Amino acid sequence: MKGIILAGGSGSRLYPITKVYSKQLTVIYDKPLIYYPLSILMLGGITEILIISNEETIPLYKQLFSNGSHLGLSIEYAVQPAPNGIAEAFIIGEKFINNESVVLILGDNIFYGSLEFFYSGIRNNTGATIFGYQVTDPERYGIVEFDKNGKAISIEEKPKQPKSNYAVPGIYIYNNEVVKISKNLTPSARGELEITDVNKKYLNEGKLKVEKIGRGIAWLDTGTPEALLQASNFFGVIEERQGLKVACIEEISYYMKYISQIQFEKLINSIPKSLYRDYLEKVLRESLNQ
Ligand code: DAU
Repeated sequence: MKGIILAGGSGSRLYPITKVYSKQLTVIYDKPLIYYPLSILMLGGITEILIISNEETIPLYKQLFSNGSHLGLSIEYAVQPAPNGIAEAFIIGEKFINNESVVLILGDNIFYGSLEFFYSGIRNNTGATIFGYQVTDPERYGIVEFDKNGKAISIEEKPKQPKSNYAVPGIYIYNNEVVKISKNLTPSARGELEITDVNKKYLNEGKLKVEKIGRGIAWLDTGTPEALLQASNFFGVIEERQGLKVACIEEISYYMKYISQIQFEKLINSIPKSLYRDYLEKVLRESLNQ
């Protein structure tokens, strides 16, 4: 299973935060936003990852993650010259995906809580698996409608009159057919290759699973300055209360055994003296005392 993080776009709604750098590099509490979706892929057992973004931002991501080997990952990069739509990720990523299945996560989507929905999606996917999450503002998202047996019957992108409150979050699991499907799409009225059109194609062929995500999971919005502040506060409260970091990619690498204890020590030593390093030293010490 390969993983793609789509982290481009103009981020114009967050101007001037996004005037000089990308939305996915804005800070959520104590780390860049993109750490959160990256950590989800890592926890899902995905170690081969492609980050897609615009030309100006790719060098910044390379500075952050290089080739990922220090984290036991293989991270590649690709340019999306213009925000031509989410489904373009599969055309740009065709070689990277090769003949495998793929998870796409949007670089501005944050999930917190038990990830069992995601793990079982990965384990059980045959065609496409996407998720449904209840929101109060359905006109802002891809929306899925269920029949009375809980079977998905329609999906619409940002409908003016939504048929349900179930939004489709930016985490999608596809078999290899997604590349061909994306290549055959035509741009929508807003000129984009829509991920919703990919999902409709799977739905029409009877190959789409839509799993509802329960209320114990937080799917946070990052679309406005207020939402960014709320997300920062949310993780500030949790990290402060538990003394555990969320989306700490170095800790996850060690926990998932993507790196050995020696590699973890080396990694810690490469990090400047900071609260973040103190935390990783504590993680190491505690792992040795267990
Ligand atoms: O967040 C979930 C929603 O994401 C889904 O419910 C919708 O079905 C889906 O279309 C998408 O809606 P958004 O309005 O949030 O999409 P947006 O254009 O804001 O793009 C989402 C992220 O993907 C954003 O961080 C920018 C990035 N992106 C987007 C496009 C269209 C790219 O990197 N390249 C692109 O071409």
